[in-house]
Amino acid sequence: MRNRLYSLPILLLLLAALPLGTAQAQQTSAPHLAKRGAATQLIVNGKPFLILGGELHNSSSSSLVYMKTIWPKLHAMGLNTVFTPLSWEQIEPTEGHFDFSLVDGLIQQAREAHEHIVFLWLASWKNGMSSYAPVWVKENTKRFPRVMEFGREVEILSPLGKATEEADAHAFATLMEHIKKVDGTEHTVLMMQVENEVGVLGDSRDHSPAADAAFHGEVPAKLTAYLKAHRATLDDSLRELWDAHGDRTSGTWTEVFGNSQRADEIFMAWHYARYIEAVTAAGKAAYDIPMYVNVWLEGETTPPGQYPSGCPEPRVMDVWKAAGSHIDIYAPDLYASDFIGWSRRYHRNGNPLFMAETRGLAAGAANVFYAFGQEAGISFSPFGIDSEASKTDPMAESYHILGQIEPLLLAHQSAGNVRGFVLDGGHSTVDFTMNGYTLHVSLDSLFGRQAKAGFGLIIALGKNEFLGAGEGFMVRFTQRPESNPQVGIASVFTGKYEKGQWIPGRRLNGDEDDQGAHWQFPPNRERIERVTLYSYGK
Ligand code: DGJ
Repeated sequence: MRNRLYSLPILLLLLAALPLGTAQAQQTSAPHLAKRGAATQLIVNGKPFLILGGELHNSSSSSLVYMKTIWPKLHAMGLNTVFTPLSWEQIEPTEGHFDFSLVDGLIQQAREAHEHIVFLWLASWKNGMSSYAPVWVKENTKRFPRVMEFGREVEILSPLGKATEEADAHAFATLMEHIKKVDGTEHTVLMMQVENEVGVLGDSRDHSPAADAAFHGEVPAKLTAYLKAHRATLDDSLRELWDAHGDRTSGTWTEVFGNSQRADEIFMAWHYARYIEAVTAAGKAAYDIPMYVNVWLEGETTPPGQYPSGCPEPRVMDVWKAAGSHIDIYAPDLYASDFIGWSRRYHRNGNPLFMAETRGLAAGAANVFYAFGQEAGISFSPFGIDSEASKTDPMAESYHILGQIEPLLLAHQSAGNVRGFVLDGGHSTVDFTMNGYTLHVSLDSLFGRQAKAGFGLIIALGKNEFLGAGEGFMVRFTQRPESNPQVGIASVFTGKYEKGQWIPGRRLNGDEDDQGAHWQFPPNRERIERVTLYSYGK
């Protein structure tokens, strides 16, 4: 039995999302983001694309010799995209003299390995500091002023330095122009990350003369007008802070936001946002592909300055949005243990979930199912992926499973009928409704197995048919009201997808579906299964 990858309703949905006459144009148009039904998706060569990614260690892509053997290993792990650092100091070592040999070499190597690239523009800032700026920028502190803390310059370029902003924007625009020239039809390069984890470290704000003058001046009307116009959707803590100081639409930063480190953080957020908006806009004017900013995440109780003050944390993301609209996505670097909570905070208010950096290994292998299945994620990218390339990484198993169902998953993300989950001892069950059935998902405990962890996603393929992928969980189906009618399992198959075709393997019954009582995914081996249901009784 061979079934088509797409059911008829899904095919119709895909066609409806593609206005007539535009299909060919989309083949050649640059990578872009599009709202498709319930999801915002990355479109590459006219088709939605799921980034099964990984980020290189910071220094790996500075050498083509070093990278040569890495690409094929990453491809073998199931990655389709490599997050590849690219530094300002390497492409513009002397002011006005650009060297794109590294860019060209990386693109060429990626193509040979059938990989895509997301370039990380490490320029004015990386992890708050400015170590990747060229030396001609670093040594000219008069033209390119530094952040001042406790009366001293530190190795952080001030976001209030106009000449720095212009030099960075010029370099970035020149880079984007070059990428367009060498990749404008092939689209190996999918997206750009602009800077990396920006914000002031060491103090809650910049105290350089320009920063002090701005801080004691008026809050820009553009910011307060935005707060007023978007009041209903503002982050709660930002709205409360603004309310607490009288919802002022004019005044100094302390008048509008109070005299605290929160005001300092908002001030820094505005200035980083304004600067990076200008760099992004210049880059997009040269070559318009999606661009995002990544975030060093920190909870509300840590004082700003112990983490980069001004980074687009949830509490200041509105301030970033107020500064302009060229940045497409705010993307978490999610290493914290509360993967679900932080994912939700970055999948809201029109911001799609784009996992810029995260943990790999067993945690990543599980979390990727939640990100793509539950939060309609666009990207997943464990950090330091090149160290994993030579080992057996469970990420590879997840990516090989997800790679098989990628088009199906994307179509159903858009249709809004996918659910994803991660289970452990603390959260061992989850219930949800799909196509009129309630699915009771729990850690696999059949035949004494007692899985300690489980994860997966479930797609409603048709009225009575579901696809599941993952491991360590089992599912019981009911209908509402629970008693009548009852739900039985008509068939379960394990199998795989090859070039979009479902290739069924064993038909599971008896012990393998708990005599018809449970759809099950035993621990420690990821798999894909399809189940069909029937009803009986009244
Ligand atoms: C987050 C940064 O964005 C990365 O470049 C890297 O420094 C990692 N932290 C290291 O854990």
